[in-house]
Amino acid sequence: MITSALREALEPGAHVVVPRPYFQMYEIGARWYGAAIDVVDHAGYACDLGATVRAVTGKTRVVFLANPNNPTGLIVGSDALARLLDAVPDDVLVILDEAYREFVDDPGYPDGIAEVVRGGNVLVTRTFSKIYGLAGLRVGYGIGPEPLMRAIRDRQPPFHTGRQALVAALAAYGDDAFLRESKEVNAEGREQLRCGLEALGLEVLPSQANHVLVVGLDDAGALDRALLERGVIVRDAGPSFGLPGCLRVTVGTRRENEAFLAALADALAGRRGTSASTGG
Ligand SMILES: Cc1ncc(COP(=O)(O)O)c(C=O)c1O
Repeated sequence: MITSALREALEPGAHVVVPRPYFQMYEIGARWYGAAIDVVDHAGYACDLGATVRAVTGKTRVVFLANPNNPTGLIVGSDALARLLDAVPDDVLVILDEAYREFVDDPGYPDGIAEVVRGGNVLVTRTFSKIYGLAGLRVGYGIGPEPLMRAIRDRQPPFHTGRQALVAALAAYGDDAFLRESKEVNAEGREQLRCGLEALGLEVLPSQANHVLVVGLDDAGALDRALLERGVIVRDAGPSFGLPGCLRVTVGTRRENEAFLAALADALAGRRGTSASTGG
């Protein structure tokens, strides 16, 4: 959906504003259509929405915002989103990426669709890859202004989404019990990870997604490798998101989270032991 929208909104030489940290596909997609990327620096670990608005020029065609964001799990609240949408000119499309929305339990989280209904030049994108667990099927959807949605549909190749993906997505969409359970397991796991990480003396951002970001690490790359040696895959957010000293950890089942925390405690003990002996 994101790349289909970019195909409609961009022409070579157009600009796309992308606040950091961001999902890399935004940049890859914009480049496919010959656009220039204006990256906006983050404020703390959050997207700097004031600077995002200031980065918009007459050449800007699209502004991206992921809510919640990847890799931080942070959300933009209703008021901040309304201010951003008010400040961005009407001829600039705001792509509001809600890939992780189903995991959110913060009551201050805005409903992106309400902004579309209100007539904003907003495209809300959602996916079956996250809470629905259908990542391999490559199926998602968007809600946006009618002319944009019609243009996307009219230029879509026929049968672009496979039958299995459509059948699975329709079945998953109506499966409220599965959704409730996934949300619950994730919320408990997120809290388990937060408590476990803080007990190890680490700082974690308050995530609303299905991953948490550990921040302020001395050497996230070394820790990433040490975890890999212990059979645990996390993401070093330095190379992939421009957030050095941060590790993104996906929430698992209770047992998986326990295994991760044990591996991390072991890796940290090894590193502290090494630096103590080196220092001595
Ligand atoms: C912010 C964000 N948007 C979209 C996606 C991808 O969704 P899909 O699998 O539907 O392409 C991801 C996946 O990691 C993501 O982090």
